[in-house]
Amino acid sequence: MEELDDLFTLTEKIERDASFLRESCRGKLLASLFFEPSTRTRLSFEAAMLRLGGSCLGFAEPSSSSAAKGESLADTIRVVSSYCDLIVMRNPKEGAALLAAQYSLVPVVNAGDGGHHHPTQTLTDLGTIRRLIGGFDGITVGFCGDLKFGRTVHSLAEALGRYRDVTLFFISPRELGVPSYIAAALKNNNVRYAETDRLEKVIGELDVLYMTRVQRERFLNEEEYLRLKDSYILTAEKMKQARKRMIVLHPLPRVNEIDVEIDSDPRAAYFKQAEHGMYVRMALIASILGCF
Ligand code: CP
Repeated sequence: MEELDDLFTLTEKIERDASFLRESCRGKLLASLFFEPSTRTRLSFEAAMLRLGGSCLGFAEPSSSSAAKGESLADTIRVVSSYCDLIVMRNPKEGAALLAAQYSLVPVVNAGDGGHHHPTQTLTDLGTIRRLIGGFDGITVGFCGDLKFGRTVHSLAEALGRYRDVTLFFISPRELGVPSYIAAALKNNNVRYAETDRLEKVIGELDVLYMTRVQRERFLNEEEYLRLKDSYILTAEKMKQARKRMIVLHPLPRVNEIDVEIDSDPRAAYFKQAEHGMYVRMALIASILGCF
């Protein structure tokens, strides 16, 4: 918790004026290994490293790496970690980041492992909440959409559960409910939470509404995806029931779950959130590499 607090304080300082860190990572190399598509995570990490004066190498398309020839992740990591100072990896397999960390000579950042976790998105989300709401104690957060495969939800719910007097609402169709291991972790930590399939029922109680995309790529059955994909669409009409100071977050990409008319609502914070992701990743890289 103290580390998080320090990281967010550094992030806010960077956001005001990053000149004190310019060139701080000169000579350092970040390898971005993305075995799954990404816009924000990969590019914000790379932008962060470049803004710190460091350099980046890597691939955004596994078919252009030797993984396409059958090389194991362990071998890839052993080799790449001898070329760089930090690895940022996204992989479709749950647990891939943990495995990579076991074989790497340098720190490994999990940029998303399957439907499991996405911890640096959580840093982005928490940092945005802290900046816009002022803190976490006593807040009520609603997670809406695909909570089964939504790795950003898993990481953020667990992190929020560390703060005092937080209430979580999980809003999803039964088929896309939060996994039992997340529910068990929350129960173990005595976090107050409830599950519902009706956004309208709880939207008026929320300080933060965290919308998520139904993740087509994780479904084994296309018909099931088509049946569930538009379960929740946030509209201006629904926003009328929300508090005036509630903020809407979304890890993005958005497909259909937030009507574009919401973008001009002052409560829509998802693009600010994406920008904040770059600053928090600057703070993270500088902290991991000891560059300040
Ligand atoms: N939020 C997020 O992980 O976005 P990308 O998939 O574009 O990296």
